[in-house]
Amino acid sequence: MVKLLDSMSPHTAPHKYYIGFRYVHPLTEEAIEEMERDGIQRAIAFTQYPQYSCSTTGSSLNAIYRYYNEKGEKPKMKWSIIDRWPTHPLLIQCFADHIQKELNLFPPDKRKEVVILFSAHSLPMSVVNRGDPYPQEVGATVQRVMEKLNYSNPYRLVWQSKVGPMPWLGPQTDETIKGLCQRGKRNMLLVPIAFTSDHIETLYELDIEYAQVLANECGVENIRRAESLNGNPLFSKALADLVCSHLQSNEVCSRQLTLCCPLCVNPVCRETKAFFTSQSCEP
Ligand code: FES
Repeated sequence: MVKLLDSMSPHTAPHKYYIGFRYVHPLTEEAIEEMERDGIQRAIAFTQYPQYSCSTTGSSLNAIYRYYNEKGEKPKMKWSIIDRWPTHPLLIQCFADHIQKELNLFPPDKRKEVVILFSAHSLPMSVVNRGDPYPQEVGATVQRVMEKLNYSNPYRLVWQSKVGPMPWLGPQTDETIKGLCQRGKRNMLLVPIAFTSDHIETLYELDIEYAQVLANECGVENIRRAESLNGNPLFSKALADLVCSHLQSNEVCSRQLTLCCPLCVNPVCRETKAFFTSQSCEP
């Protein structure tokens, strides 16, 4: 992605990436320290979640703000943010290509009746009800992908990975698979729509828990899972294009980021937004 970006935007090259995770190493804070040590002057916080949620991207942005706030220091580098990209055309193209490739592997006489289940990580309803934009943005991705596929199949957006007894956004992926089977729909394609690379939610939850164990129990006829975007060169191009357009725009963040959830109760969210919007990105 970085090599591609160097050729697309030579006047801002060389570009370098750092990885910052929220809960495993290298942590966001460690990445910032390394960037400061390297003398970086211009930084983009580029979320790898296409769809924005305060509990994912928002939480990472809060961590960047907290890092500086707790040290009582101003950043040595200018920051801006790519905070969401749910409908980027190349992202949509990648999802549509992976779905089409997988649909082609169903028996030809079943292909048309395959139900496409777009599965995204769920959220507690307490988060949804304070006005988190994630469900709407995941829905936007789904809609664009289906448009690209000419609405070739019936589809639903479903939600996985609920934990604990509190209510979460549904319908849940596993209950959907069961429910469809009970209603005679036994050909399904699972599409991880809010994850771009493989990890436990795709490789274990979708592939083993749902597509093997649960599907067997319910008598599913054919079930497949669309490949994650992982190392697809078109996906790398999408990432490079996002950074390139962001650099050209001189915008600090999207307009949408400037608005807190209508029922937000975390004062840090407001401080984080003020911190980022005070960063000027003019060349
Ligand atoms: Fe969404 Fe604070 S929880 S802005």
